[in-house]
Amino acid sequence: MTAITTRKDGDVLVVTSDNPPVNALGVAVRQGLAAAIAEAAADPAVKAVVIIGAGRTFFAGADITEFGKSMQGPGLPEVVDLIEASTKPVIAAIHGTALGGGLEVALACHYRVAVPSAKLGLPEVKLGILPGAGGTQRLPRVVGVEAALPMIVSGDPIPARKAEAIGLIDRIVGEASLEADAIAYAREVAGKSAHPVASRGEAKAEPGMFDHFRQQNARRLKGFEAPEACIQAVEAATTLPFDQGMAKERELFMKLVTGDQSKALRHLFFAERAASKIDGVTADTPLIPIAKVGILGAGTMGGGIAMNFLSAGIPVTLLEREQAPLDRGVALIRKNYEATAKKGRMTAEQVETAMALLTPTLAFDDLADCDLVIEAVFELMAIKKEVFARLDGVVKQGAILASNTSYLDIDEIAAVTQRPDHVIGLHFFSPANVMRLLEIVRGAKTSPSVLATAMALSKKIRKVAVVACVCHGFIGNRMLAPRQQQGNALLLEGARVEDIDQVLLDFGFPMGPFQMSDLAGLDIGWDPNNSHPAEKVQDMLCEAGLRGQKNGHGFYDYDEKRNRTPSAKVEQMIRDFAARKGIAQRRIDRQEILERLLYPMVNEGALILEEGKAQRASDIDIVWLNGYGWPAWTGGPMFWADTIGLDVVVAGLEKHAPKMEGFRLSKLLADKAAGGGKLTA
Ligand code: 3HC
Ligand code: NAI
Repeated sequence: MTAITTRKDGDVLVVTSDNPPVNALGVAVRQGLAAAIAEAAADPAVKAVVIIGAGRTFFAGADITEFGKSMQGPGLPEVVDLIEASTKPVIAAIHGTALGGGLEVALACHYRVAVPSAKLGLPEVKLGILPGAGGTQRLPRVVGVEAALPMIVSGDPIPARKAEAIGLIDRIVGEASLEADAIAYAREVAGKSAHPVASRGEAKAEPGMFDHFRQQNARRLKGFEAPEACIQAVEAATTLPFDQGMAKERELFMKLVTGDQSKALRHLFFAERAASKIDGVTADTPLIPIAKVGILGAGTMGGGIAMNFLSAGIPVTLLEREQAPLDRGVALIRKNYEATAKKGRMTAEQVETAMALLTPTLAFDDLADCDLVIEAVFELMAIKKEVFARLDGVVKQGAILASNTSYLDIDEIAAVTQRPDHVIGLHFFSPANVMRLLEIVRGAKTSPSVLATAMALSKKIRKVAVVACVCHGFIGNRMLAPRQQQGNALLLEGARVEDIDQVLLDFGFPMGPFQMSDLAGLDIGWDPNNSHPAEKVQDMLCEAGLRGQKNGHGFYDYDEKRNRTPSAKVEQMIRDFAARKGIAQRRIDRQEILERLLYPMVNEGALILEEGKAQRASDIDIVWLNGYGWPAWTGGPMFWADTIGLDVVVAGLEKHAPKMEGFRLSKLLADKAAGGGKLTA
């Protein structure tokens, strides 16, 4: 199959690219485009050229799978220059997405028309690179620096109408008549004596604009290399002639594309897509229609979970055991929506539409006709079993029963029902209306159809879903456990709370482990009736009445604005606690802290893989990235371990093993390290 075909429509050469699924600009497409431009130049009967994509989209960008390999000519910058240099006007006819290299091709065209549903953007920064085929130099010249800079630095695409408003699109055409309208437009402009050429434009910037932009976005961009390079490239467009600006763009591009951050971010791009592919679930697996969802428990999680479905237009019946928590839960949902509306991200009407889909109730029978019921009641097996047995009796046959449990055994829960094949874990993360991650827990008997339905539903509610099998804490919380355990041990051995947190903040986490504990509440999982002396620092603090942010005192002290300061009192309490346990304190350096917090997580991830509890290493990376704030530019725990070397990780684990209670080295990790292999390969 040839990717590019040409046909003549009178005096217009129509160049169609057909490279499914997303018309990526791979070598065949680039060669075909170059040949088509040459064909137009050589044919005196051709007066104008239309470039259009077959299938679902215009070019969605360079072919990312070619990165890091030796590129076959012609390169994209070359093709883009050929298009722009055409003396016959070239019109980009855009539908679907014109992204990255795709938009760069469009920018080289003399005119751009698009259907209303099209989206245009330069998302390269999300892959740790910058537009490398003139995007940073042409876009500011076409739409101005003020509009171009945020597009290039955020990577977020804009809709066609907005693109038209900023001058990126010349005309919006009919949704169903793109090709015909583009050809007609081509005839309109063909006779003009001169055509717009993006590279000949000028990009002007107000003094101080770039520094202002840097300051405004500093927090969001922290840790990432590509955004700063993007800013520098756009800045070059305002200070240098086009050719020199292009040279600057190339230099920055080459540095980024060969760097570790870009490799990590590309890994994540493919990891996110791989996560949706489940063993034993084929594309033709029948889905269960989900028209109505029931949720049990209107507490911290239940309310947030409900919001996901309400926002997606799916009716929710929310069940509580008493009126008071029900009212509280419903009020909080409304308050959250109203806060979103206040920020301008929702209209008052949308708030009411969402709220109108919510039916609060105290009656189990009201769940009878739900297609899916998600349980989010207290984390106790006895209660879960009681609730599931009751649900099984009430909810119609064929409906899915799900648990939001953080740790408990889904198979044990499923066993109390007559429909274990329709039981599944849907583990949301707090706050459930915000966090992108959804761990889907596959029970031993969960049917492929139930799994496929959960996957499809996760897309509808805009979550990134990862499948885990039953084990204590699944993927995310299971790997969190050794980190928390080592955090506790490090405290007792003499590391300070704020030093441990700082190591992870510097690594790129939004929060350190003790900040996280303070936020969640120190009393999660603490039993006030336990008569044994506290084992963990956290329990000892609880016994002393410290609860974290909620009562202003935890590992840190908090003021009314939730600013934290290290607590000398807590430091002393920890020292005394260690002395009572007979643990000698010493100075612990940052490297040891880092290794003892993160290497055991890598080891736990490898154990999860060797036990078959996760399908692939990259799934683990997706969990930690979207559920726990692991810094994206390292690619996630598994990719990070591969980057620093598995032999280094294993050597570190062996060194620290005597201090790590209950530690067991993963055989998979040891074997891969010995054989020079990778976890994510
Ligand atoms: N190169 C190679 N493969 C790509 C690709 C690309 N640019 N974009 C998507 N794919 C693949 C995906 O991996 C997936 O493969 P799979 O079916 O084997 O898993 C398949 O195409 C379909 O992709 P999605 O599942 O993502 O499909 P959606 O319909 O959900 O989304 C999309 C479509 C919005 C186009 C999305 O795929 C996307 O955002 N793609 C990347 C766009 C991008 O980053 N472009 C810039 C590339 S870098 C560049 O252009 C450099 C230049 O400046 C020099
Ligand atoms: P919560 O205590 O805030 O809410 C639980 C709610 O369930 C309460 O409002 C309670 O009144 C209600 N409830 C109890 N028994 C009930 C019954 N039989 N019928 C109807 N309602 C009943 O608890 P939270 O934090 O929302 O946790 C719920 C579940 O979600 C637990 O399994 C927990 O492990 C899990 N989870 C919690 C996360 C968190 O960060 N809080 C994160 C992910 C999962």
